[in-house]
Amino acid sequence: MLFLDSSDPREIKDIFAWGVVKGVTTNPLIIAREAGNVDLEQRIREVIATSFGPVSVELTTESESEMLAEALAYHAWAPERIVIKVPFSEMGLRVTHALANKHIPTNVTCLMNFNQAYLAALAGGTYVSIFSGRVRDMGYDVRPVIAMTRAQLDREKLAAQIIVGSVRHLMDVNEALEHGAHIVTVTPTILRKMLHNPKTDETIREFNSAWANRGR
Ligand code: E4P
Repeated sequence: MLFLDSSDPREIKDIFAWGVVKGVTTNPLIIAREAGNVDLEQRIREVIATSFGPVSVELTTESESEMLAEALAYHAWAPERIVIKVPFSEMGLRVTHALANKHIPTNVTCLMNFNQAYLAALAGGTYVSIFSGRVRDMGYDVRPVIAMTRAQLDREKLAAQIIVGSVRHLMDVNEALEHGAHIVTVTPTILRKMLHNPKTDETIREFNSAWANRGR
């Protein structure tokens, strides 16, 4: 399954019409890059209005009480759509567990290895987000991280779903799915690259030109 890694309502509206993405992930960096110092609630409400499915909104505070208050505020914007994105840490696990007890869905984020992903799933994370590109930036192979996490979730019948994010190349998408990701979250740029193959363009041109010139 694919999610869209964007907060841009124009892109989101356009791409959801393709019928291929089933949710949205955002993070503070994406929102700051795409919309400067926009009001977060307004931006997320625009994302919700132009999409369907779960919308991940990331916490930006760092103490347990602040994170919980922030999570409850975001959740109230659209209880049936908002997923609280919780940065991974000991505090993050506490918050994930507390939100799970309140039946508020979470996406535990910034995961770089199997151990973190496993803890996030044990704490009750609805989604666990493994950052493919950033793992590779450190010189490690992300494929075994995804495969080990998926195998362990399946073995223990843990409910968490793996999202692979931080996708930089088309091969990252293919490899993530092949190694057991439930979901890959892709930017509009990556998704548009998935459309194209020069042989497809050439074949369509050949067919259409044959049709236009038929009988000549
Ligand atoms: C995933 O949920 C994150 O929003 C995102 O994919 C992080 O990617 P980056 O490494 O490009 O910041």
